[in-house]
Amino acid sequence: MAKIVIANDHGAIELAQVFVEYLTKMGYEVNHLGVVSHDSVDYPDMAKLACEEYKKGGYEFGIVCCGTGIGISISANKIQGIRCALPQNAYASSMARKHNNANFIAFGGRINYQEDPCTILDAFMDSEFEGDRHQRRIDKMMALEVGC
Ligand code: RB5
Repeated sequence: MAKIVIANDHGAIELAQVFVEYLTKMGYEVNHLGVVSHDSVDYPDMAKLACEEYKKGGYEFGIVCCGTGIGISISANKIQGIRCALPQNAYASSMARKHNNANFIAFGGRINYQEDPCTILDAFMDSEFEGDRHQRRIDKMMALEVGC
């Protein structure tokens, strides 16, 4: 069964729950490491939890959610090997996979998306990395992790 890891802070409890239920219904095994209480937590801790779990292997991709999606995506992108996209719509979500080979997707629980967040997630899941010239750019992107 395909596995997905997801973590969230207190700013995205409901949205994370929507994703957990949606993906579970679709037949995915969902490892939810996020919080379920509104007590304040720090989004870098949540990003670290999800990314370290993802890096153990066996996951298709990861999802991170905070109030805006900004803090948790920036945090995830500080972790070696993680390419976390914060798409504004289904088009960007699809391109994040096709061109950027993103292995994480971020959402904001307090953001009023113009499209259903599950549709944005679907676009990510339904798209594949196109390789070719995009691989060259990914290689350059990942080389930035070790200094320029
Ligand atoms: C928490 O209040 C909030 O700052 C966090 O969820 C996120 O929006 C940060 O980027």
